Formats: sequence, C-alpha cells, structure tokens
Amino acid sequence: MLSKSQARAFFLGGTVVTFLIFIGLTIYSFMPSNDQTNFKDIDKNVVRGKEIWESNNCMGCHSIMGEGGYYAPELTKVIERRGEGYIKAVLMSPAPWAPKGRKMVAYKMSQEDADAMVAYFKWIGKIDLNGFDRIVSPLAKDKLKDQQKIQ
Ligand code: HEC
Repeated sequence: MLSKSQARAFFLGGTVVTFLIFIGLTIYSFMPSNDQTNFKDIDKNVVRGKEIWESNNCMGCHSIMGEGGYYAPELTKVIERRGEGYIKAVLMSPAPWAPKGRKMVAYKMSQEDADAMVAYFKWIGKIDLNGFDRIVSPLAKDKLKDQQKIQ
C-alpha cells in the first residue's frame, strides 16, 4: 500500500510525465518537416475552391477524406481519377451530370469558379493520407476487385 505522500508523489509524477509526453508529441506533429498538408501550396484559388465547396454544401452528397455524404463519389483523389478536364465539364455543365443515374447538381460554374474548384482538388489530392484507405466499405472493396478481374 502506498502512503498518502507516496500516492501524491505518484499522482504528480505521473501527471508531469504524461503532460511532457503530450507537449513533446504536439511539437513533433507541428514540425515543418512533418507537414502532411502542403500548407505552403494553399493559394487564393485553393481558398476560393474551399469556399465554393462549403457554401454549396458539396459534402451533403460527396465526401472528402471520408467526411461527408455517401450519395455521390468520394472526391479526395478525384483529380488523379478523372483529370482536370472531366471535373470542369461536370462543374460547368448546364444539365445535371448523371452518366450513372444519380444526378449531380447542374452548377453551370464560371471558368474562374471551376478553376478554383480544380485548384482545391489538386491541393487536397496531394495531402499525405498516411496510408488511410478512402474505400472503407467491404461491399465497395469487393465491387472494385470484381471490376479489376473483368478488366
Ligand atoms: C445532390 C447531390 C450532389 C451535390 C450537392 C453535389 N454533387 Fe457532385 N455529383 C453528384 C453525383 C450523384 C455525381 C455522380 C454523377 C455520375 O457520375 O453519374 C457527382 C459527380 C461529381 C464529380 C465527378 C466525380 C466522379 O468521380 O466522376 C465532381 C468532381 C463533383 N460531383 C463535384 C461536386 C462539387 C464541387 C460540388 C459542390 C459545388 C458537388 N459536386 C455537389 C451529386 C452531388
């Protein structure tokens, strides 16, 4: 059994040690050499793209890094998957884009807004996901495997 003063020392020592570990890891995470977000690449266009993303509630249907709705395709790596031209066509289209049946909103975006959206997707596409798998649903994984077998 610990005496009262031993218990106090144990409590204070434990608190100080875990607090120092916490501070150390926080400093480590924020070191520029450990940056995973390429924050230096965030320019005016990327910010504008993010504003359009937020103000139009794109995440009501889409997700980025797993956050958002599951009605429409995941968009973290859309620039890699579809390329700039395709994305701009979807965003500037006067009619709802829906080759697979579900409808994308016909935003009829201007050239500038579509460019800003593309800049945002380019930036987000370069974020280091640290091995995070965007496709989390086992059903979606099976479907992907089947598609790869066919091709
Ligand atoms: C009402 C739901 C909805 C909203 C809101 C929405 N989308 Fe979509 N979007 C879709 C659907 C559904 C598709 C897939 C259409 C298809 O391929 O058949 C799509 C497709 C796309 C694609 C092509 C993705 C791919 O992999 O083919 C991009 C890029 C895109 N949307 C961007 C946006 C952006 C940017 C916003 C906000 C400004 C937005 N979407 C808002 C439903 C939505």
